[in-house]
Amino acid sequence: MPFWQRETLKTNHLGHLEIAGCDCVELARQYGTPLYVMDDEALRTNCRAYMQAAKELPMPCKIYYASKALSNLAVLAAVKDEGLCADAVSYGEMITATNAGVAPENIILHGNCKSERELQSALDQGVTVALDGFEDLAQLSQMAKEKQKKCKVFLRIRPGIDAHTHAAITTGIEDSKFGYSIKDGSALKAAKLVIEDGFLQFYGVHCHIGSQILQTAPFTQTVDTLCAFMTEVYNETGYRIECLNIGGGLGVHYTESDNPKAIAEFVAIIGRQVVESAAKYGFDKLPALYFEPGRSIVGEAGLTLYTVGAVKDVPGIRTYVAVDGGMTDNPRPLFYQAEYTPLLAGRMKDPDDGVYTIAGRCCESGDVLITDAPLPRPRVGDTLAVLTTGAYNASMASVYNRLQPPAMVLCRKGKAHIIQKRPQAIELLALDDVPPKSFYK
Ligand code: LLP
Repeated sequence: MPFWQRETLKTNHLGHLEIAGCDCVELARQYGTPLYVMDDEALRTNCRAYMQAAKELPMPCKIYYASKALSNLAVLAAVKDEGLCADAVSYGEMITATNAGVAPENIILHGNCKSERELQSALDQGVTVALDGFEDLAQLSQMAKEKQKKCKVFLRIRPGIDAHTHAAITTGIEDSKFGYSIKDGSALKAAKLVIEDGFLQFYGVHCHIGSQILQTAPFTQTVDTLCAFMTEVYNETGYRIECLNIGGGLGVHYTESDNPKAIAEFVAIIGRQVVESAAKYGFDKLPALYFEPGRSIVGEAGLTLYTVGAVKDVPGIRTYVAVDGGMTDNPRPLFYQAEYTPLLAGRMKDPDDGVYTIAGRCCESGDVLITDAPLPRPRVGDTLAVLTTGAYNASMASVYNRLQPPAMVLCRKGKAHIIQKRPQAIELLALDDVPPKSFYK
């Protein structure tokens, strides 16, 4: 069985790819391509896997969906419906979450350069803030004093741990723009400032070591490092930090060779490590444990549909199959050399007869989505599906070449609903303006 096959992603009786009961060829015909498709059942299954695993832990546990992976009202509403909280990194992500019904007290605001408006809004609404540096600490403290309002905070810690993922998405190493370093003493200094602050309430330590992590050792090492830090804070100040937030980072399947841990196993491993480290450092009580998964909630629940527009053989080198999207709807191959799996959605039973390179339509030779993938020879007009595009595709899309971003449909039990419209080309001009003649005089 291929890695991607599941009850809601399979070949149907017509030999077409079917997602959540919807025929992908039919979706492409009805909604146009490129098209982002989300499987409601799959994303809820992932939410439930986290919630169930959290329930089985011996400590209180909350799951915050990292909305940067895919911030959309319908997605946030589904995630909230499954009992998750939300992590946001901007005003836009915060209001997406609150408008989808997530209560402000169930949101954590992150960011290494939060604006005044973001901090103000978090404070006013009762959003928890993950402090990242001395500037936001001072700014939030000042605002809280002025408003005489308390604010729950986490300290984002830089543990000096390599997550062994792509360099652009490893965040826990010493050379990182995120968080307070344990090594140089800033973490302890920040902890003391927060403990002495009358309005900032020190709730927990936070750490996000990176993304698409396929091993568990970097996570368990991080848990231990954070527990050691919590002990140091206790020894220095007598203050017991109540919560450990391990961030996100669990990897997903993009290709047959990816082998991430299942969600339940991952949560259980982290939980066991917290128990072990708490015992090692003599905690009198287990800390609460928070997770912030993004990719592992939405990644495999999404795919992108394209239409093949041209097939070009470069003799002796490779065959380029051009599709009607590319780096604008999926910049990950260019940013992170990310690999993907393509399928010919209307010809699932045709045997592979060679390898084909899926190229985007942008005016850049680097705009290649997948290199040398085994497929039946694609033909102009074929619907091509690229799997596992639910995370960090729509949320990182651009309008380079003034291409219109794809629409997004949510599918469930054979029904499809547009949850993000495709703007008209003319709408992309809406924010432009030409100065009057006088301006050029
Ligand atoms: N929490 C924090 C504070 C984060 O910064 C992130 C991701 C997460 C949670 C969620 O991590 P996840 O479970 O999704 O790995 N654009 C990159 C990924 C950047 C991740 C940034 N932070 C990509 O496309 O691979």
